Amino acid sequence: MKFFVDTADVAAIAELNDLGMVDGVTTNPSLILKSGRDIIEVTREICGLVEGPVSAEVVATKADAMIAEGRKLAEIAPNIAVKLPLTWDGLKACKVLTSEGRMVNVTLCFSANQALLAAKAGASFISPFIGRLDDITLDGTDLIAEIRTIYDNYGFETEILAASIRSVNHVREVALIGADVMTAPPDVIRKLASHPLTDAGLQTFLKDWEKTGQKIL
Ligand code: E4P
Repeated sequence: MKFFVDTADVAAIAELNDLGMVDGVTTNPSLILKSGRDIIEVTREICGLVEGPVSAEVVATKADAMIAEGRKLAEIAPNIAVKLPLTWDGLKACKVLTSEGRMVNVTLCFSANQALLAAKAGASFISPFIGRLDDITLDGTDLIAEIRTIYDNYGFETEILAASIRSVNHVREVALIGADVMTAPPDVIRKLASHPLTDAGLQTFLKDWEKTGQKIL
């Protein structure tokens, strides 16, 4: 499963990228606001750091304006994936932009039928938001499983990008289901390394090592 990092924080992306943990980046208008940066400048900087797809989201709501914004965002770098909302206009823009050879990430997906439409419109990625479904007491990971089955049934090549990941359990669950990609905030990716038994085991080893009176260096 590929790891995308869901942030516009360049320092956090750089740290994870140096560890080989970043196969791509996703941003959205809320994350751009949080960064306090200009969308074009920060997206260009991220594209310079990361080789994989970097999603940059349009804010227009009519297809023609979405296409124009998408073309402008795609000019930033060859690894831009234009992020479009899963609306009827977003699907129209998806069809046009993908037929121009651009990568498109269709976002704000909350149902299997929406994912089916995105695949038929040629989306490179579909982003089902699992955390936001959990927020309204539905099971977000069930949606990932449904989309996996449907895409496999018909051989759609659109990649399932599990989004709105809020916990390490979400990461394990979507990996087990077979999502192609997951995007998570930097702190969730860091938490994947944590286990209380690792911490406890390390403490014991260090105490015993001190008792030996030895040094390695
Ligand atoms: C994905 O592309 C979105 O930017 C993101 O995963 C949304 O996550 P949230 O529901 O935690 O805001």
